[in-house]
Amino acid sequence: MAHTYRWEAGGGAVLGSIQPQPIAHQPDGTLALADIAAAIKPDDQHFARTRLLCLENTLGGRVMPIEYLTAATDLARDRGLGTHLDGARLFNAAVAMDGDPYAGARAIADRFDTVSVCFSKGLGAPVGSVLVGSGELIARARRVRKMAGGGMRQAGILAAAALHALEHHVERLADDHANARRLAEGLAGLAGVHARPPETNMVFVDLDGERPGLVERLAAAGVLCTGIYELRLVTHLDVTAADVHAAVEVLRREL
Ligand SMILES: Cc1ncc(COP(=O)(O)O)c(C=O)c1O
Repeated sequence: MAHTYRWEAGGGAVLGSIQPQPIAHQPDGTLALADIAAAIKPDDQHFARTRLLCLENTLGGRVMPIEYLTAATDLARDRGLGTHLDGARLFNAAVAMDGDPYAGARAIADRFDTVSVCFSKGLGAPVGSVLVGSGELIARARRVRKMAGGGMRQAGILAAAALHALEHHVERLADDHANARRLAEGLAGLAGVHARPPETNMVFVDLDGERPGLVERLAAAGVLCTGIYELRLVTHLDVTAADVHAAVEVLRREL
């Protein structure tokens, strides 16, 4: 389910000449170390060369423990691979860990050669993502971005919004996590409905059987989510505790 593999229109293959080697996730979202080791191809002309381990944190709202990130990236490095983290929701992971979230984000990022971070999800900027890495890697990335048509001379105004998000909207992600817990708790006790306890700001609700038209009915009542057998509800900067309360009312009625 990794975004870089599944949800980017095959861009890695088309633009990067990469043949991805997807690995099935464990229930906690991690890739088993033995599976990673087994997927690294031998140095043999028959195989595509294995070059990079790419992880995503959070994945489906699940937080990967720092011990796991250390073990997985150590394994990759020992085997001569680069390491990249799709950290679109890196700060949600950092806030879910104990302690200062900026230190947590740094600790996570330290394990990887490159990290991408998104400012327009929980951090609430209108648009924008960044790639973080060594000066040398970023210089190469800028060239690739230019080739792919991504150069943008007017990016400063977007960067200002991203900086605002970085300075003002990180700690408050804890509010989104608390709201997600409230939402999951609010759905407890409904027959055929199982809200998984959220680790961050996403609530997945398993439903027994298909419920045609449910997402549309919820949308008409002001609750936006995706899914048929499983609903995905996400809390963020623009969703208050009162909104969550109202959403629970609507969900209980429709479910
Ligand atoms: C590159 C990348 N990674 C991860 C995500 C986050 O996916 P999710 O909303 O499932 O956390 C996105 C979302 O657009 C993304 O563009």
